[in-house]
Amino acid sequence: MPRKGDILKLNIESLSFGGYGFAKHNGIAIFVEKGLPGQKVEAFIFRKQKKFYKARINRVISETAEITDAKCTHFDDCGGCSFQTLNYEQQISEKYNQVVEILNHIGKFRDIKVSPILKADNIYNYRNKMEFAISNNPWYEKYNPVEKKDFCIGLHPKGRYDKTIDILNCDIQSIIANKVVSIIRRVCIHNKILAYDITNHTGFMRQAVIRSSDYSNETMIIFVTSFFSKEILKPLINELSELKEIKSIINNVNPKKADISKGTEQHLLYGRDYIFEKLGNYKFKISPDSFFQTNTKQSKKLYDIIKSEADLRGHEIVYDLYCGTGTIGIYLSKKAKKVYGFEIVSSAINDAIINASENNINNALFFNKDIKDILKDSQINQIEKPDVSIIDPPRAGLHPKALKNIINLNQKKLIYISCNPSTQARDLKEFVNNNYKIKKIQPVDMFPHTPHIESVVTLVNESN
Ligand SMILES: C[S@@+](CC[C@H](N)C(=O)[O-])C[C@H]1O[C@@H](n2cnc3c(N)ncnc32)[C@H](O)[C@@H]1O
Repeated sequence: MPRKGDILKLNIESLSFGGYGFAKHNGIAIFVEKGLPGQKVEAFIFRKQKKFYKARINRVISETAEITDAKCTHFDDCGGCSFQTLNYEQQISEKYNQVVEILNHIGKFRDIKVSPILKADNIYNYRNKMEFAISNNPWYEKYNPVEKKDFCIGLHPKGRYDKTIDILNCDIQSIIANKVVSIIRRVCIHNKILAYDITNHTGFMRQAVIRSSDYSNETMIIFVTSFFSKEILKPLINELSELKEIKSIINNVNPKKADISKGTEQHLLYGRDYIFEKLGNYKFKISPDSFFQTNTKQSKKLYDIIKSEADLRGHEIVYDLYCGTGTIGIYLSKKAKKVYGFEIVSSAINDAIINASENNINNALFFNKDIKDILKDSQINQIEKPDVSIIDPPRAGLHPKALKNIINLNQKKLIYISCNPSTQARDLKEFVNNNYKIKKIQPVDMFPHTPHIESVVTLVNESN
């Protein structure tokens, strides 16, 4: 049995979900950070768990044929795009194998047919939202191991939430967002605006969230600060509001120790408190706290798959469960008799109601509800039951009570969208045990260079 600190020679066999290279040593599973299939590496064990080990590469003994150069200068240090040195075709093939493996392993679905992954046309600059940490505690990068910085704005290295990589350029986020990051850095340093210190809980600037739409590059910036002072933020507001793309600057105040971007107060500093995005013929209003898919171009493809799978004929009642700003329901509404959307975040529901009205949709209603409570809700019990339900929960998948509610809705068809194949496979198993049959599994690559993969699964109710 290997021990912590042991150095092993390993052949990386595949990429595991979560982005680690998978290798075996005397039958034991070893997950290797940034290991790529086909590589032979010398790696040391840094973590020992009950059934597996984690290792970090000391040196690559022989390289895989599929390797490409990382585009990003921060690749060696940043935990974000761990697949960046694997060519895109190979990334797709590895993600496909993962989806099949997880359905097999967690869902116990044998011989299941998974459609080829729908690839992304744009593999760089595709993210429309990123959260950047601001701190005085830099991560000393491989290519810049000495420079002490009192103000960093960027991302955390994998597993080191206390440290911040001062990101000069991030190749997966939008070009305008890169510009905004460098302006924030320059203006803060020049005006001596202090970064937050997470050890002593002093300082001011904690995070910057940048959200931009494909639609006219409309951009929202959310500054997360430890207290409210428009005065301190003034130089930033003055300079950033000069950019034509900046339509909204918001300040979330987070005086608490927990490092989150949500605040106890929210202030509008400039412009409007929302931006617009467009998907197909529909225009959507997005508020600071509302969810919106992070890859706009791929979202259009995702929604087109949902539309085609729903195959609506005009007489169907559609439930859009976990509806966010109502995007999927609105996208399907023209072909449905009626759409009902349900979502826990009130600002998202407010956006959904406005979105329906702005797009002249008059057959969609939205409710601010927790899915696990909908069937005990007298208001919901009065509305028509669905023929088709769309489910798009967060990464954790369905709460057992939510799952039970959805089964009890007894709809003819379910379309389950998820960015987490593991929780999706777990939930699919429950649906299949309750008379649903999987008709189609369509993965979509929404997140090139990262280990993440989205999947749309169509299920039909065999008891109907
Ligand atoms: C992955 S997003 C999907 C949003 C939307 N379908 C879209 O495509 O933009 C998941 C949504 O579920 C909402 N949510 C999380 N837990 C919920 C719950 N228990 N009940 C209702 N909505 C919930 C989140 O606020 C978020 O908007």
